[in-house]
Amino acid sequence: MSWETVTLEWDGDVATLTIDRPDALNALNVETLEAMQEALAEAKREDARALVLTGAGNAFIAGADIKYMQDLSTEEALEWGELGHAVADAIEAFPAPVVAAINGFALGGGCEMAAACDLRVAAESAVIGQPEIDLGIVPGFGGTQRLPEVAGEEAARRIIYLGQRLDAETAAEVGLVGEVVGDDELDARASDLAAELAEKPALALRGAKRAMNQRAEGSKEAGLGYEREVFAGLFGTHDQREGMEAFVEDRDPSFK
Ligand code: HXC
Repeated sequence: MSWETVTLEWDGDVATLTIDRPDALNALNVETLEAMQEALAEAKREDARALVLTGAGNAFIAGADIKYMQDLSTEEALEWGELGHAVADAIEAFPAPVVAAINGFALGGGCEMAAACDLRVAAESAVIGQPEIDLGIVPGFGGTQRLPEVAGEEAARRIIYLGQRLDAETAAEVGLVGEVVGDDELDARASDLAAELAEKPALALRGAKRAMNQRAEGSKEAGLGYEREVFAGLFGTHDQREGMEAFVEDRDPSFK
């Protein structure tokens, strides 16, 4: 298959998916996200043993397409977010490891797609971050959930709350990327890493990926389940009754 804004190329068992919309710094629109879904499905069908995700020209992905987003209604924005989630989920659930080769701007939805990959290698001139807050929105392609997993809570909150754009070295310091290489070395390094992964026993590697993905899923589910229990368990206690009664009666509560 072929697409207008995405290419899928093979080197042996390694597939490279390139976002190819350089005039818009590879900003993601509906067409590009749908093409990514199809390209990922094709790479899966063809049994890729590793996949590299990168961008054409000097950007990785400069974000979701702001020109497309600016007039969306709430319902349209919901569908849009779901499409982005589906693509990020497909990257995360791709059976073989996915390496993000971050060759330039990885902002907003670009940072979120990188966070859904297994490993991240950045060129030294790359700029990575979540500027959504300054557009009056929040990360909507999974960043609020995946960024803390990758970069840790404090760094992720700073990046998202402050709309930070980090240079590659700083991104490496917080763990948002695994390694930084010279701009001219990025393609070769990402290919070498993918080739090394492709030589590992495929079943064991897929098993390791599935198991590690499950760890994140499980803890999220467990955390939400625990929250529900704690929340519901407080109903009927003195403080819950007193607190809510005091609010309704417009007075200060007297807690135990
Ligand atoms: C649409 C974009 C774009 C984007 C760049 N372009 N980023 N178009 N959406 N996210 C377009 C520009 O409009 C311009 O088009 C062309 O690409 C080149 O960009 P310039 O701004 O001229 O380049 P430069 O001066 O080098 O600046 C690069 C930049 C800047 C720093 C990356 O473009 C920028 O700040 N972009 C927005 C980054 C951002 O906020 N991303 C997060 C988006 S929100 P023309 O036609 O003028 O040549 C997001 C939400 C995800 O991702 C979740 C949704 C649910």
